[in-house]
Amino acid sequence: MYEQEKKMLAEAAIKQVKNGMILGLGTGSTTRSFIDALGEWVKAGGEVQGVATSNETVEQAKRLNIPLLSLEEATHIDLVIDGIDQIDPRFRVLKGGGGALFREKVVALMSREILYLADASKFVHHLTGPLPVEIDAFARPYVERYLRDKQLDVTLREHDGQPFVTDGGHLILDVDLERVQDVRHLAQELKSLTGVLETGYFERQPDHVLTVEQGKVRQVAHPNLRDGGGLV
Ligand code: 5RP
Repeated sequence: MYEQEKKMLAEAAIKQVKNGMILGLGTGSTTRSFIDALGEWVKAGGEVQGVATSNETVEQAKRLNIPLLSLEEATHIDLVIDGIDQIDPRFRVLKGGGGALFREKVVALMSREILYLADASKFVHHLTGPLPVEIDAFARPYVERYLRDKQLDVTLREHDGQPFVTDGGHLILDVDLERVQDVRHLAQELKSLTGVLETGYFERQPDHVLTVEQGKVRQVAHPNLRDGGGLV
């Protein structure tokens, strides 16, 4: 996504932030633009507290003097603002491209409302993946074999030639979804395997998504909330 589009989404998302809110702060390049904008908002006198979904987000928020709460300290979360990898017409979402899926999912599950920021390329007819699966390193051969027995292609995520390690100290297997008819079913099946912590299929769906269409920010409401959409 172009930096300009991320800035437009960030500026539109800031309009949804109200004084006194406890915000879930996502992870990734789109969210990074939003947190930059939030830093400016706080500098100008806005009062919020954030709950971060990754060490990277903690560092950015601290640099910008955005007050943070741990999940234990947060009495509740009003609104999560985060990026996504894919969303289908029924608002089923894949996340975890940045490797923060587990904490992002916990924070999303605890939030009263979810707003995702996504450029048009992230809207798809079918979730094509990959589906990130966060696993304990010891269980890797077991989970990999399980997936390969189902004829699914699996890639261990790497960073700088080394296995990518999540903030929680786990590995990520990226599963190709080309042969998968029902991603939700696969995600549920994987969750039942010993050694699988979480998948990037997000059962809890967003209330709204902000996107950019023909140079304008558009708010798309969840199919169950339609009529709430429209240009912002
Ligand atoms: C991190 C995520 C990100 O939100 C997702 O990968 C989108 O990232 P970006 O905004 O850089 O495209 O789920 O775990």
